[in-house]
Amino acid sequence: MHIGILTGGGDCPGLNAVIRAVTLALINECGARVTGIERGFLGLITRNVQPLDARSVEGILAQGGTVLGTHNRCDPFHYFGAGGADVSAQALAYARDELGLDGLVVIGGDGTMVIAHRFAELGLPVVGVPKTIDNDLACTERTFGFDSAVAVVAEALDRLETTARSHRRVMIAETMGRYAGWIALEGGMAGGADVILLPEVPFDVDEVARVCAEREARDGYTLICIAEGAHARDQGLTVRATLADSPDPLRLGGVGQWLQHQLQPRLQSEVRTTLLGHIQRGGSPTPYDRVLSTRFGYHAAQLIRRGQFGRMVTLEGEHCASVPLQAVAGQTRTVPLDHPLLNAARGLGISLGETQG
Ligand code: F6P
Repeated sequence: MHIGILTGGGDCPGLNAVIRAVTLALINECGARVTGIERGFLGLITRNVQPLDARSVEGILAQGGTVLGTHNRCDPFHYFGAGGADVSAQALAYARDELGLDGLVVIGGDGTMVIAHRFAELGLPVVGVPKTIDNDLACTERTFGFDSAVAVVAEALDRLETTARSHRRVMIAETMGRYAGWIALEGGMAGGADVILLPEVPFDVDEVARVCAEREARDGYTLICIAEGAHARDQGLTVRATLADSPDPLRLGGVGQWLQHQLQPRLQSEVRTTLLGHIQRGGSPTPYDRVLSTRFGYHAAQLIRRGQFGRMVTLEGEHCASVPLQAVAGQTRTVPLDHPLLNAARGLGISLGETQG
């Protein structure tokens, strides 16, 4: 048996742990030959591959990034950009006929799963493994990388708290999370934010200013945790969607900076913004993510062993399971408005920027 592995989309802590687990399980349990495809689907077009064995995956469990490299814009069905050439037939022929792959493990997020699903429809035996720090993939309760990102946000807020308190400032931390607010919600809760702003709950700038002013008078400082995809009520804009055509150039600096400029004229205290950016995506996975990645990788190898292709590994409660790729492709799992953590935040007096009354 000859199995390929690739990592697609943005990198994420835990990718190497999955590569290691899939490789070791396939070698030990199936006596398989394993080949790494370099830079995601691009490697199937440029024909860049490397053999993987117990030796080559040694010591990579705790390493950030991906030893195979990745590419977040390579779609063989639209080879560079919409309207680009469809080179999927060449990629498929290379994988199946030249490399002689009996299966391909595709580790990636939503965009990668869409491509994986299309290859599966063309007859390539594919197994997907869900990856994204955003934790917004459908059908799985967790994606690996999320816990590591939350740990970074919590630590950043801990650090911002001491300087905010000392200077009596409003500190805004902008997290990743384009479409879903999981990182801002869990990171904000873990880091003791006073205000948490998510894409799912459009915020009222007046209300955020009111909370900051009240805290200014009472506590002297405020910690705000805002997801990059959050947007103000009635504005109907998200930063990412409006980079090109924003009427407000300040939005180019991110929604955190935009909020800073909205709040500053209404407050006595100084307002500062920290854009956490790719720091949330780099570095070593947390122990939780190392274990989850290892479980996902092992489960992917089990699916291959049983010949269950066209499926993505999921986490259901305590257990690994799987769903058809079709159920995942193109779906986003946002924070439900009745999520217990949102209710807990409200109950603790943490503002979600919602209009009062
Ligand atoms: O999807 C993961 C993610 O980390 C998003 O939260 C973020 O908007 C995006 O990737 C950033 O991607 P890039 O590295 O292309 O700027």
